[in-house]
Amino acid sequence: MDKLRIEGGVPLHGTIAVSGSKNAALPILFASILLDSPASFLNVPHLQDIETTLRLLRMIGVSCENEDHVVQTEPGNLLPEAPYDLVRTMRASVLCLGPLLARLGRARVSLPGGCAIGARPVDQHLKAFEQMGARFDLEGGDIIGRTSRLRGAHIVFDMPTVGGTENVMMAAVLADGTTILENAAREPEVVDLAKFLISCGANIVGHGTPIITIKGVSSLSANTYSIMPDRIEAGTFLAAAGITKGKLLIKHCPYQELETVINKLQEMGMQITKTSEGVLAELGKAGLHGTDVKTQPYPGFPTDMQAQIMALMSVASQSSIVDERIFENRFMHVPELIRMGAKITISGHTAMIRGVSHLIGAQVMASDLRASASLVLAGLAAHGTTNVRRIYHLDRGYEQIEKKLNAVGARITREQQ
Ligand code: EPZ
Repeated sequence: MDKLRIEGGVPLHGTIAVSGSKNAALPILFASILLDSPASFLNVPHLQDIETTLRLLRMIGVSCENEDHVVQTEPGNLLPEAPYDLVRTMRASVLCLGPLLARLGRARVSLPGGCAIGARPVDQHLKAFEQMGARFDLEGGDIIGRTSRLRGAHIVFDMPTVGGTENVMMAAVLADGTTILENAAREPEVVDLAKFLISCGANIVGHGTPIITIKGVSSLSANTYSIMPDRIEAGTFLAAAGITKGKLLIKHCPYQELETVINKLQEMGMQITKTSEGVLAELGKAGLHGTDVKTQPYPGFPTDMQAQIMALMSVASQSSIVDERIFENRFMHVPELIRMGAKITISGHTAMIRGVSHLIGAQVMASDLRASASLVLAGLAAHGTTNVRRIYHLDRGYEQIEKKLNAVGARITREQQ
């Protein structure tokens, strides 16, 4: 397994480009199952989770070519199975369920287990599909879904679920009749999926709002589609400029979709301005000071930026409070930050951070994708050397992060651990 060795204390200066969004690319690639003709996807990030998705698509019978951030797919004879050893490495594999039920009327998908950040159930997905006429059996850890034909339904999610909204949207576009999704997720990645499906001929209105209406059509014809930039990668780079007291120009930074994050970083003392070249981020003269954050569904503060802003808070003056309202166990980065000298206490889903003057480099362990990003940020700011181990977590969601950061002054090497 690899580790990243980070020599901290260097302010980052220069231009850094954001790749395509992992969380938009995954559902959009799974949507290729719905198509009966070849499709091309541009600006696809080069990530472990993308490779896993393409492996699963090939197993299902969709041929995939992946060259220089362009993925080309061509559906063949579909085999509706997603095996455990693939699903367990990437929970988002469950997103093949909706398209397979829509195209074939049957699917066998290993029930995704939990992960480091929580139980991550898919009950909302299954409940919605049952309302659309699917029936499910559980056999040896696999969910086996069957339907003669999906039909439109009026679905009200118990909570806004990104994957649930995406999965059901992909099922509804070919269903018989109209589906209304209430309490739908409004994340930009859900909107990007809807835009792709509409470009193929789907009839969807209301995406980006809590109520989405989908009128089933008989078939979808493929298109060339460019994936939106990754707002979480962009937010991570904004935080890197602040925590290293540097100045970064971030190209392809989706400013509007990051509004809540940018507002919070500005509250903490960062100067973030939109320019014709990209978004300019630097720390103001007064330095970093604390703020409070509560994670919520979009457009609230994204849970996927919680670990990263907590790294910033750990070296801000005054105290900060983080209230993690989406996942039940998303503080795995806290004990590792404490090893670096951070002063953080946890009570339930709330963390209290008392800022310290600086962090000290240490051996730390990554536990999940965004926790890894938090530890990299802390390592960039810390005095001395930080070794972040188990960075396979990081490689799932950040394309060549050490290459991008080294190009703006960081001192990171990837080593065998
Ligand atoms: C997506 O996960 C993202 N993953 C996550 O990003 C992100 O943290 C999450 O949305 C929230 O924004 C992808 O898009 C691939 P949810 P998802 O369904 O769809 C509960 C990253 O770091 N829930 O919106 O799995 C669930 O337990 C990853 O890139 C149910 O109870 O998240 C959670 O508390 C991590 N039953 C809440 O809803 C269900 O059937 C939100 O989960 C579904 C969800």
